Amino acid sequence: MSVSRRSAHMNVMVEAAEKAGRGLAKDFGEVEHLQVSRKGPGDFVSTADHKAEKTIRASLEKARPTYGFLMEESGAVAGTDPVYRWIVDPLDGTNNFLHGIPHFCTTIALEKDGEIIAGVTYDPIKDELFTAEKGLGAFMNNRRLRVAGRTSMSEALSAFNSTHKSAMVPDMQNFVDAINEKGLGLRSLGSAALDLAYVASGRLDAYWDRGLNPWDRAAGALLIREAGGKISTVDGDKNILDKDIIIAGNTALHDEMMKKLGAMTGKKAAS
Ligand code: 2AM
Ligand code: CA
Repeated sequence: MSVSRRSAHMNVMVEAAEKAGRGLAKDFGEVEHLQVSRKGPGDFVSTADHKAEKTIRASLEKARPTYGFLMEESGAVAGTDPVYRWIVDPLDGTNNFLHGIPHFCTTIALEKDGEIIAGVTYDPIKDELFTAEKGLGAFMNNRRLRVAGRTSMSEALSAFNSTHKSAMVPDMQNFVDAINEKGLGLRSLGSAALDLAYVASGRLDAYWDRGLNPWDRAAGALLIREAGGKISTVDGDKNILDKDIIIAGNTALHDEMMKKLGAMTGKKAAS
């Protein structure tokens, strides 16, 4: 068994993610009680989300006072260090959390000169910690990760995320058509960061999303690459953080998806 070697950066990230994750798990217990109240748990969840972001920011800032941030709740915060930047989503899977569904995470990535060099995604309910560092592999709770070996779409279990705008429906339909030859194996689990971690760990085979943000994708992209998989735009562009549509999977399924979706887009453009 290969055990992960963790850099000083990784130790800082893991500590921040676990601390915030533990807070969220505690608050999640409360959310279930609030479901029945007339107002619902909305305000409580928003407070929990902000609290988690504050926890992460305080932890990271204490360890590395000069680094900048890009965070879901607070946006971009410039640091005095021009090289390093943290990318943070304190609570990914907000709607699951809100509805009492125990599937959400905290996710943190570290960018160096615009390149993701470390990523952590922590699911505090299942106590699953996904970590990756550039060149050092991807791990879940110290176990080395590999993307799935399945090479046929007909055996694949795939997931997708999209913001719910009707303009996006045709592209989403293309994805469903491309992967869903046998009409099975499609999931929308509600946390993009966990979906990407699941691709890295071989639980999911193929992935598509549209209209998501850098903090949903940053840690997961490195997890997938370090687990031997691919993540890109439909045109093969590897800079995916601020792109519209992205796809991921093992090499075979990623490339097959790229070919099929590329052909569909081309057909649409020609007609
Ligand atoms: P969130 O939980 O942090 O909102 C499924 O809903 C996935 O897509 C989640 O990772 C969710 O992130 C993200 N997501 C949902 N709606 C979104 C929106 N309007 N903009 C960006 N990301 C969104
Ligand atoms: Ca998110």
